[in-house]
Amino acid sequence: MGSKKVTKIGVLTSGGDAPGMNAAIRAVVRTGNYYGLEVFGIMRGYSGMIDDEINLMNSRSVANIIQRGGTILKTARSKEFFEAEGRKTAYQNLTKRGINGLVIIGGDGSFTGAQKFSSEFDIPCIGLPGTIDKDIAGSDFTIGFDTAVNTAIDAIDKIRDTADAHDRLFIVEVMGRDAGYIALHSGIATGAENILIPETETDIEALIASLSEQEKRRKLVNLVVVAEGDKFGATEITSIIKKRLPNIDTRLCILGHIQRGGSPSCLDRLIASRMGFHAVECLMNGTHNVMVGILNNQLHYTPLDLAIKAKQKISEDWLRIVKILAS
Ligand code: F6P
Repeated sequence: MGSKKVTKIGVLTSGGDAPGMNAAIRAVVRTGNYYGLEVFGIMRGYSGMIDDEINLMNSRSVANIIQRGGTILKTARSKEFFEAEGRKTAYQNLTKRGINGLVIIGGDGSFTGAQKFSSEFDIPCIGLPGTIDKDIAGSDFTIGFDTAVNTAIDAIDKIRDTADAHDRLFIVEVMGRDAGYIALHSGIATGAENILIPETETDIEALIASLSEQEKRRKLVNLVVVAEGDKFGATEITSIIKKRLPNIDTRLCILGHIQRGGSPSCLDRLIASRMGFHAVECLMNGTHNVMVGILNNQLHYTPLDLAIKAKQKISEDWLRIVKILAS
């Protein structure tokens, strides 16, 4: 808990962009203005704090952005902020404007920076989970995850059409860094026969056995959804399958950055608006250095260090569902 009254706040987006970040920025600016606070937009994440790219915003600066992907504040992964000198410059740039509270919209790297900064300087930080990966504890959803999964579903459905037309097997790689949530959700929702994620041990022999059994049964369409963080990775898995099962016509498709773009889904706009609103209230009422999350539809505040350290666990229930429904 902090004691100084927060009067001027800065908001920034940092790390990989995620659909819904604009909705969160809008909520922070409008809630701040509603309560009589000055709100400054910091460009390019922590880089803008160091380079002094900090501009006063108002209600009009965030008009017409709730539906837009990307982030109007731009984003970056700043190496300089991980140096003491960089953080000191950033602090000076904030204090010369009287900024005494920060809202950081980003993922675990961004929260690590916030944690370090707030432990060195007297500037309270509130984190909002903005990442398509859903790899942060303390919230059922992260801003951008739902849109990314829907983008992946849309693409995989299309891949299924062409896979079906040619009787082909498709190995589809989705993003997620070290987390398998995008693969798990998009794989279940598209009826993929196999889903490979870093949270479970990938058994190549079991995969080959399952594919060759499906080939014998003449099961026509096969989709294997692979999280980019999988131990083998989609590219290696494709080449193993091509070698071991030469009769199966196999193709690889890496979805890549399309998963990060596009207009945010309803869910992402709603959670971003709700989290942005409560971030400002946190700063005002002295709840500091936490991440605002939503668990079971209730607001939930997790200390920043815990949000980074404690990863979300994939439930056993989902894993059983994958096995049984794909048969
Ligand atoms: O964290 C979001 C994410 O899109 C990950 O899923 C992916 O591993 C990474 O960022 C890609 O980063 P970059 O945009 O730097 O290639």
